[in-house]
Amino acid sequence: MTYEQFLRTALPLLGYNWQCFMSRGMRRRIARALQAWGACSWEGFSRSLYDPGAQRVLTRALTVTLSLFWRNGAVFRYLQQVVLPEIMRGLGPGEPLIAWSAGTASGQEAYSLAMAASGLPEEQEEHRPVYIIGSDLDAPALRRSSGEEWTRGELKEIPPDLRDRFFSDSGGTTALDPLQRRKVILIQANLWESPPLRYAHLVLCRNAIMTYFHGAPREEAMERIVSLLSPGGWLVLGRKEHLPKRWAARWGLVHAGRRIYRRGAGG
Ligand SMILES: C[S@@+](CC[C@H](N)C(=O)[O-])C[C@H]1O[C@@H](n2cnc3c(N)ncnc32)[C@H](O)[C@@H]1O
Repeated sequence: MTYEQFLRTALPLLGYNWQCFMSRGMRRRIARALQAWGACSWEGFSRSLYDPGAQRVLTRALTVTLSLFWRNGAVFRYLQQVVLPEIMRGLGPGEPLIAWSAGTASGQEAYSLAMAASGLPEEQEEHRPVYIIGSDLDAPALRRSSGEEWTRGELKEIPPDLRDRFFSDSGGTTALDPLQRRKVILIQANLWESPPLRYAHLVLCRNAIMTYFHGAPREEAMERIVSLLSPGGWLVLGRKEHLPKRWAARWGLVHAGRRIYRRGAGG
């Protein structure tokens, strides 16, 4: 069995889109998982996947936790200029804005949203509370968020004015403004299960479910994720991701280039 045959047969069993794992880097990671499990060949590893332990080892290898602050900056600018002010204007006095970054890795996306909301007139004038839930399955990725050691690579997409405003360097490490950190609650949660909150005005689910998974499980997971958005709620996907065409009656694509959707009144 070749590597590609392994991907084609084993990954769909776990709900993954096998085509995302053809790169050399992914092949190295999956080969390390094979060795860690003690299998001698792709075929042997494939046959051992009835065992939940082998599934866990493989799933760990397939989990890509790469993220950046202000990733695809045009999305955050649009959220800052259009979406967040509009949500805030529709809220009652003192009512909090609630957002969910689903598959947040170490919180880079959730913190970027906190930065985008910071200082908006609609936030300041009303002393509007902003709560951002960032969730991820990967405990080591979440643990990193409590440290203050963001790498240069993770900060590379942040415009210089925001970098100066929200980050400080000392002793070779880079720390995020505690006020932004306080807006974010990070929790471990599996996107294959019920969402970790009941209601949100805005959900970001980028470069996670829609990229790495496929088929009915993926759609069911997305249904659960968007179920907490009321009509008028906003959904942001990754740059190369899109909702199934038959969802078009329920979801308007507000900004195609930025993959920003809004739930229609009939949805
Ligand atoms: C490539 S990162 C994307 C991070 C961020 N959303 C972004 O776009 O920069 C994908 C994240 O999805 C998470 N993930 C994958 N499957 C998941 C699941 N079933 N439940 C929760 N998180 C999951 C991974 O742990 C990883 O941190």
